[in-house]
Amino acid sequence: TPIEAPDFTKCSRGTNLNTGQPLDVNCCPPLSREFIDYKLPPVKKMRFRPAAHLATKEYIAKFEKAVELMKALPADDPRNFMQQANVHCAYCNLTYEQVGDKDLRIQIHNCWHFFPWHRWYLYFYERILGKLIDDPTFGLPFWNWDNPEGMVMPAMFANSNSPLYDARRNLNHLPPAIADLAYSGKDAKHPSKIIPHNLTLMYREMIRHARHLEDFYGAKYSTGSQPNPGPGTVERGSHTAMHSWVGEATRTGEDMGNFYSAGRDTLFFGHHANVDRLWTVWQDLRGSKAKHFTDTDWLDTTFLFYDENARLVRVKVGDTMDNIRLGYDFQKVDIPWQKNKP
Ligand code: C2O
Repeated sequence: TPIEAPDFTKCSRGTNLNTGQPLDVNCCPPLSREFIDYKLPPVKKMRFRPAAHLATKEYIAKFEKAVELMKALPADDPRNFMQQANVHCAYCNLTYEQVGDKDLRIQIHNCWHFFPWHRWYLYFYERILGKLIDDPTFGLPFWNWDNPEGMVMPAMFANSNSPLYDARRNLNHLPPAIADLAYSGKDAKHPSKIIPHNLTLMYREMIRHARHLEDFYGAKYSTGSQPNPGPGTVERGSHTAMHSWVGEATRTGEDMGNFYSAGRDTLFFGHHANVDRLWTVWQDLRGSKAKHFTDTDWLDTTFLFYDENARLVRVKVGDTMDNIRLGYDFQKVDIPWQKNKP
């Protein structure tokens, strides 16, 4: 049986997964009596997601304005910046009871829902920002860390006068530090080795070790599953490494290096926009091979989100397979790791 959208009244204080202790924050969402089944709206204008390092001044100004407005929404508005950060916490930190198995809690990481769940999360985040600045073409920027041109923290996020800035980061990793996609807590590699190593790692995660659907998406997770059956190549590797590379170098790793706080850093969304883009890139590299599961335990899984009009909507994994149908596209950039066969 597919995982069913959680009942928000069955949300409780979760677990800090870095320490194993109960969370000291409550990240359950505002309650809402009803939800509606979300239908993908007809795409009139495509949203454009630029590479963060190539974004124009005008784009950055719009993005900053939108985030500023999101931070200024009332604290109990589900579209408010902190409420949005808590959406991530609630679905990751074992706060929601599984419908159908009250002894288990939902964790959407380390399993085959990693890509679809984060796609929905960014989808609504992007639409909320676009609505706040009244721009239906607004798209999130992606941090192009799989390309040498993008392997430093994008400047817009590193500007301490910007609403995009977050002080809870590893200050040794501000520009011009080169992002290490294999980072696991220490800066050992000589800078000249990081880039070639990153490219080989991307080849492995996207091609060599990602032949079967489960390799890339992660292991099956359905009603009755224990959390963390197993992540896909990108989730386990570069994705997690970048979370800990950005977060503080402490045991708890705020903000990016800890599930409960990751969404408090605007760079989370730049990071995940790239993960989302890599999903599309992987599908494009598949040729005639299967691009997604056809198991109804995957397709029929549902989640709840608040949309840009603060309505609670129920969405399906089966609607996430094609970003064009969802109304956004990515700036085309080089994919240099394709040639980096180890
Ligand atoms: Cu929900 Cu990058 O983690």
